[in-house]
This record gives sequence, C-alpha cells and structure tokens, in this order.
Amino acid sequence: MSLHMAVDVARDSRESLTAQIQSFIKREIAEGALHPGTRLPSSRRLADDLGVSRSVVVEAYGQLVAEGYLDAAQGSGTRVNGRLPGRPGPSALLDEGRVPGIRWDLRTGGRNTLAFPRREWLTCYTRVLESAGTTGHGYPPLAGELALRAELAQYAGRLRGVRTDAGRLMVVSGFAQALALLCAALPRLGVDVLAVEDPGHPGQRQFIREAGIAPVPVPVDEEGINVGALAATGVRAVLVTPAHQFPSGAVLSAARREALVEWARATDSWVIEDDYDGGLWYDRGAAPIALQRLAPDRVVYAGTASKTLAPGLRLGWLAAPERLLGELARARGRHDLGSDTYTQLAFAELLRSGLLDRHLRRLREVAHSRRQALEEAVVRHLPGAEVLGPAAGLHASVRLPRHTDEGALVAGALLRSVLVRGGAAFTCLPRPDEPALVIGHAHLPRGGVAEAVQVLGEVSRW
Ligand SMILES: Cc1ncc(COP(=O)(O)O)c(C=O)c1O
Repeated sequence: MSLHMAVDVARDSRESLTAQIQSFIKREIAEGALHPGTRLPSSRRLADDLGVSRSVVVEAYGQLVAEGYLDAAQGSGTRVNGRLPGRPGPSALLDEGRVPGIRWDLRTGGRNTLAFPRREWLTCYTRVLESAGTTGHGYPPLAGELALRAELAQYAGRLRGVRTDAGRLMVVSGFAQALALLCAALPRLGVDVLAVEDPGHPGQRQFIREAGIAPVPVPVDEEGINVGALAATGVRAVLVTPAHQFPSGAVLSAARREALVEWARATDSWVIEDDYDGGLWYDRGAAPIALQRLAPDRVVYAGTASKTLAPGLRLGWLAAPERLLGELARARGRHDLGSDTYTQLAFAELLRSGLLDRHLRRLREVAHSRRQALEEAVVRHLPGAEVLGPAAGLHASVRLPRHTDEGALVAGALLRSVLVRGGAAFTCLPRPDEPALVIGHAHLPRGGVAEAVQVLGEVSRW
C-alpha cells in the first residue's frame, strides 16, 4: 500500500512534519484523490517512504482520526473515513442502483441480469483467449472488430430486417455511446436540436441537453410518435423507439412509419432508431421489423446488448447512413480508441455459434411468463387498469383508472416496500388525467410480480 509521493515534507519549513502530512492528506481528500474508504499505508511504511520517524506519522494519523478524516479500526488499518461525503453524482443515463429495504423493485433499467448466459459467455470468451496467443490484442479498429461487424450485419438483417453491411456498422459502448457520438456528429451537419418522444426516457433527455443539443418533446399516442406534431416543430432530427415505444409500449403504425420516412426525406432530416429491446418480442402477432429498412439513407439504427444480455457489457451497434459515417468515425476518434476487443470477439462468437439465439429463446420465455403474471395480477388486483402494448421487452406500461392519484399510489407502494415509477416520471408535461405505472417485470420471479401488484392493488384502495 503506497501513497503517491507528491507529499512534499520540507524539513526547513516552519510547519512541523506532522502538520505537513496532515495538510497533505486533508487536501487529497478535499480534491477527491483520496476517496472515502481508501486504505492508507501503515505508519511504518509511510514513515519509511518519507524518511521521517514513525512517531511523526502516528501523530498525524491520530490527529486526523480525532478530526474525523480517518478511521483506524483494529485489524483493518487506517482508512479515509467512509462516511465522508462522496464525489459527484452519476450520469443521467445510469439507473439508480439498489435501494435498501425494498422488497420488489419494479423500475425499468437493466436489472435483467437474472438470465445472463454465464456458461455460454465463458465458453465464447475462453475460445477467444485460446486463439489470441500470448501477446494480447493491439488496438481494435475504431468501428469495431470486423468479425463482429460481419456477424452483426447478419444478425440485424435476419432478426430485425436491417439493411446494412459490415462497412456501415460501428460497434459502440451501448446506446449511450451511440447517442453521445450522434450528439457530437449532428451539429457538424447543421443539426443542434433533436426531437424526442414524450413520454420518453428522462435520462436520455438530460443526456442530450448536457451534450449541447436541445431536446424537443413530441407527443406519442397508441400509434407511436405523432409525425404531424414532429413536422410542426421544424427540427431536422428525431430519436424514436418504433418497435416498442419507451415506455408506453406502442408500436409505430405502418402509416406513421411511411409518414416519418417521408418527413425525413422531404426535410433532409435524420431519424435515430433506438431498438433497445429488439429481439425480445413474444407477442402472438409478428414482431415489427426495423424502421431503418424503409430508409437506410435516413435512419441511423442502434441496437444494444443491454436488454438481451446485460447492461454491464456496454455493448451496442450502429448501422449508419453513408453520409454520417465520416462524422461518426471522427467523433469516435475523439471519444476513445474503440471498444474492448475481447468482449467484441466473444460476442461475435456468441452470435456465430447460435448460442445467442438459444439464449434469446429462453429469455423470451421467461419474460413472457412474467408478462402473463403481470396481466393476471392486474386483472385481479387493479380492476379498471390495463396493461398496454404488445407482449415484448422487459417492461410494460399499465394505464390506471382515470380517478387514480398516481403520485399517492407510487408513494403508498414505497411505504409497503414496492418501488415503482409512475407515468409522470417519463412525461415532459404533467398529464394528471392519464395516470399510469411503468413496470419492469421480466427480472422478477412470477410470484414476485403477483405479490407486488397485489400490494399496488391494496394501496390503490386506501
Ligand atoms: C429507451 C432505452 N434505450 C436504450 C437503452 C440502453 O442503453 P445502453 O445500451 O446504453 O445500455 C435503454 C436501457 O435501459 C433504454 O431504456
């Protein structure tokens, strides 16, 4: 355990050696270099490193413990006090993580790791390491490993109807990076306003704003985004979730698809298609294919492994129109030097071997059974409420009876250890006459879905 040696003890200073060490540690904590909980070197080790007597360090540590900067628990050494305030908050796109004391967490946002195919991933990762040799890989191509791009072109084509090829695909660190790259590339093409769906992902709206682009909300109904309202805004780019609108679940109708593409062509505009849960369709009707198919020259298609595998992989892909490729590549070059080669090649192997398809079949079955449990529980415990949208993805939107006080229901559920978001968490403008809940169901056991909805029913009758 060592500390960096910017601690500059000056023997000829008027400040004592003990005081100098104290000030150094306080400054490093204040500047965020020494984090709460960080273990410090033993007094003997630090004294040796600094060339001072041990008693100097013992005294400095003792004083800092007395002042609450450090903790010195028997047997675990001296640490920066873990109760000191932490550093800046997380990105808008991050979900909030676990909330203590909650029995059922119904929030959307990635907790589907229940079904991560660990054995299959390990098999593929091992194959990659075995064929890699001992020297390790060099930097990956900026757009991604060719082997993965070739697999992704096939996968997106056969599963989602996307028209692309390896040359027009870019591997990215999830949709978040896709959006960051687009927010960097679009202004160079004269676009600095981006229409977004309302309701939509609140974190994405904030992310877009923080990237310097103004998000403009456009209403969504049961046919998806209102293209007339979009056209009226005068924007030249829009972010949509056509296959399974987030969070309402609406599927963009055939007429709206045509209208959206027509708008994009007529106004020289761009459509960003966030296909966040593509591949997770288990409804009786046929899965809608990608919007991109209608206009590969206008639509940037984005896929992600966050719902189908795990958000922690940070793996996504973009199929972009030719005209955007150069700007996206330049933006990527300014961002990082590409995605982790080993993860890319393991994912390529998962696709090539058919193991991903097998996993998707299982995941759809699990998600479908949870969706059925949700529908049954809603009929039983929330009379007058309705589960909206097709059976797809890992969440569903539930329309509540008009008179329901959505805020009171969400707050009451929390008191009963059920954490759920109301529709208000996703809309730009309040819609008090359209109370709703957005329920992530696929990560819960069947009994958990039923129990959580029963609690919601009990709370709603208070
Ligand atoms: C609407 C929407 N888009 C995209 C994503 C995935 O983002 P990423 O690929 O960065 O994990 C999510 C994840 O929760 C989402 O809700």
